[in-house]
Amino acid sequence: MAEYVVEFGKDGRPVEPDGRLDAPAFHRNHHAIRAVLEKFLAGKSGDAVEAGSGTGQHVVDLARHTPEITWWPSDLNEQHLRSIAAWRAHAALPNIRPPLRIDLSDPAWCSQMHDGSGPAKLLAVFCANVIHIAPWRVAEGLFAGTGRYLRTDGRLFLYGPFKRNGSHTAISNAVFDASLRENNPEWGVRDIGALRELAASAGLALIEIAEMPANNLILVFGRPEAA
Ligand SMILES: C[S@@+](CC[C@H](N)C(=O)[O-])C[C@H]1O[C@@H](n2cnc3c(N)ncnc32)[C@H](O)[C@@H]1O
Repeated sequence: MAEYVVEFGKDGRPVEPDGRLDAPAFHRNHHAIRAVLEKFLAGKSGDAVEAGSGTGQHVVDLARHTPEITWWPSDLNEQHLRSIAAWRAHAALPNIRPPLRIDLSDPAWCSQMHDGSGPAKLLAVFCANVIHIAPWRVAEGLFAGTGRYLRTDGRLFLYGPFKRNGSHTAISNAVFDASLRENNPEWGVRDIGALRELAASAGLALIEIAEMPANNLILVFGRPEAA
């Protein structure tokens, strides 16, 4: 299996002695990402899963600003799970649960999602920079699980670079896509149309597209009746 990385093509900073990893991209984009999520999350309570949390920095930032929401970070990479746990301990916030080991290519995600020891039906799923650095079956499992576990009023927030109508939105994204595919032919920047179809198969619809800095987007999915 390919080695999954926190930020493809870039060297991370040194690991803290307690295992905390630092993703340079987090510092560039967390304000803009949080602003989009907060528009929906403000004033709400419930459980939220972050899928593919990586270092764990986003979940700490989101949890700090949404104290009524219980956050469940997750990943499948052992070093990333250690980093998430270390950031959680460092932040000492009451609303972050220990990381779940979720392999998104499994549509059931993990046993805790259905044995009563994990979150209740989800208010939100947040997934940043994962589905282009993973095989398509990871996107399939992300949507299948979201369709299964999301509340009727819940939302899936999907952050990253995307193609529109089969075309890249920027040359830099096309270059990035080529480098991803060269590294692993199963990786690549995904098309919004293909994601819409995947969402429909999971009982979800695209509700909003939020433009983000550096030619990224947040795609917001929910139940069709919320669209
Ligand atoms: C580029 S990193 C993004 C991390 C974080 N979301 C962020 O934006 O900083 C991609 C993450 O996806 C995770 N990942 C890759 N394949 C996965 C899978 N099948 N299931 C769950 N996580 C996966 C990797 O371990 C890694 O933490």
